[in-house]
Amino acid sequence: MTARIKILPSGHEFNSEGNHTLLEAGLSAGLRLGYGCSNGNCGECLARVVSGQVEKTRHHDFRISAADKTDGHVLMCRNTAVGDVVLEAQEASSSQQVPEQQLTAKVKAINFVTEEMALLHLKTPRTRRLRFLAGQAARLGGNGKASATHSIASCPCDDMQLHFQIPRQPTSDFSRYVFDQLKRGDSLELVGPYGDFILDEDSPNSLVFIAWKSGFSSIRSLVEHAMSLEVAEQMVLVWVADGDEGRYLDNLCRSWADALDDFTYLPVNADGEDPQGCMAEIGRVLNLPEQQQYDYYVAGNKAILDATSAILLQQGVSPSRLRFDQILHD
Ligand code: FES
Repeated sequence: MTARIKILPSGHEFNSEGNHTLLEAGLSAGLRLGYGCSNGNCGECLARVVSGQVEKTRHHDFRISAADKTDGHVLMCRNTAVGDVVLEAQEASSSQQVPEQQLTAKVKAINFVTEEMALLHLKTPRTRRLRFLAGQAARLGGNGKASATHSIASCPCDDMQLHFQIPRQPTSDFSRYVFDQLKRGDSLELVGPYGDFILDEDSPNSLVFIAWKSGFSSIRSLVEHAMSLEVAEQMVLVWVADGDEGRYLDNLCRSWADALDDFTYLPVNADGEDPQGCMAEIGRVLNLPEQQQYDYYVAGNKAILDATSAILLQQGVSPSRLRFDQILHD
């Protein structure tokens, strides 16, 4: 059965299939619903049923007060929709509304896609997940091990499966630890999320994502989130890297372009370390229709961000339409 859920006051709507909880269905649809444990303990996903019927599918330890019960409050992580439902629920509108969390996750897989790049797949416990917004980062390591902050390279729609892209960096203890010692089944401590390189979901503009080398990490999270929300009419992804090998998830980008009518993927070769040269090439291949409005999300090193900013501002793009994520390593 498919139920249609509407959230107030935002007016966001999504479908819920089978007996997915209200929270699972909302997160899968890309909503920034307020929640904590996902497990019926904290009460942070409390929402009021305005109309329609829900059904409790799992036990919860959190005690809902008598007044809240009478008022129609339920836990979104423990209830499923029985037909169409309207709910009054909290949604985060900024990164400040997502608290810092600390948890331990297990390494589910490490995939060394090239000599220089490790794709790290972590799985959190079912009862202790990481709530974050697409584009944010987390600190990995801890417990006496080396640690470093990296962008989360996956979508918040699955908060148990977290992906990171760790470049080889001889000067980073954490990078050396990942490449030389870390293995499947090991534990890593996670603290976060951090950063406000997040999608402006209220903007009606088309989206341009520019990833410089491993800046693709936060860009991937934003693209997947934007796809689940279906917010933009048109999305353009530019990935600047050293040759084909530098675009270590090229097939993924091509599959997005194949699957979506309004998605354009433009691979661009890095012109050495010359950001001006790269931007000239990006300008040449982008060729965006002038009458259309765009929001730009750019992830790269300081030089590429400075060059991109200067060029886009010169072209008359409003500073409010630019968002930058500075990476500390290529
Ligand atoms: S998220 Fe903690 S009770 Fe639902």
